[in-house]
Amino acid sequence: MNLKEILQKKAVEIEAELKKALQKKQIYPAMLYEAMAYSLFAGGKRLRPILLLSACEAVGGKKEKAIAFACAIEMIHTYSLIHDDLPAMDNDDYRRGRLTSHKKFGEAMAILAGDALLHHAFETMTEACINDFSMSSLQAMNAIAHGAGVYGMVCGQVADVLNEGKAMDEKTMYFIHKNKTAAMLQAALKAGALLGQATQKQLDMMEQVGEKMGVAFQISDDILDVTGTLEELGKPVHSDQKNEKNTYVTMYGVEASQKMVEALSEEAISLLKAFGEKADFLINLTQYLIARKN
Ligand code: IPE
Ligand code: IPE
Ligand code: MG
Ligand code: MG
Ligand code: MG
Repeated sequence: MNLKEILQKKAVEIEAELKKALQKKQIYPAMLYEAMAYSLFAGGKRLRPILLLSACEAVGGKKEKAIAFACAIEMIHTYSLIHDDLPAMDNDDYRRGRLTSHKKFGEAMAILAGDALLHHAFETMTEACINDFSMSSLQAMNAIAHGAGVYGMVCGQVADVLNEGKAMDEKTMYFIHKNKTAAMLQAALKAGALLGQATQKQLDMMEQVGEKMGVAFQISDDILDVTGTLEELGKPVHSDQKNEKNTYVTMYGVEASQKMVEALSEEAISLLKAFGEKADFLINLTQYLIARKN
């Protein structure tokens, strides 16, 4: 199997776990389930859960302990996409190859489906913590809350919105990318490593890997917004221009931005080498993401 096939297989496994974590029969009114499932089961690369499970394995942990947290981080990510697409934010019409949640269900339902996915993530994680009462499970949940919230994704999204149409320096741009995107990748790697009983040194390294990989991932997203197609991405191109976003591409151009993706990814790879052959998959994945097309 090549890496693309391995990633697809992992995505299918995660999807099966997500289906177990979001049970239709328990949710009423039915439209709430419909709206949550519409976005959650629309495809998506499942990068964050894959990173979480891979980090757990890279430090010698078992993925059974990590699966609930992998599902939870994908629910949080999906909520962030639903809200990111809303008219009050990026105002986009397509996501994961289908109409955005608010286009399909209306704004109120999209906001609530996002809220519901966020809370369901924490319900899923707290249930795992109750079943397996361990400090590492609590720490993993804390790492995910940290990366998703006030000190991570949400604060990055706030800075992103506040800086639309404004001149921006490199420091602010890095702050936005680090928080709106890298923080969730860092959280995935850190939570996975915590669940695998990593040492403090390993945890610190995973955080650094996540920062570099995550900023590179968002720079690629900015590049693809200019060079990709709706068919490849499953979401509209030129969304950043429409919203007068400052990106690495508007600041440095496509070529120099791609060089930055390569440099940051190489730095992440050299950090990952310290984990030995158990981190081979994460190294290959980082390499693969450099030239991603979606
Ligand atoms: C999109 O994330 C939002 C960003 C942080 C760039 P992904 O590119 O991982 O989107 P999905 O999950 O595959 O749809
Ligand atoms: C931020 O970046 C995404 C989130 C934190 C949800 P973008 O706004 O560029 O993401 P896309 O391009 O809509 O996926
Ligand atoms: Mg956005
Ligand atoms: Mg957007
Ligand atoms: Mg984008």
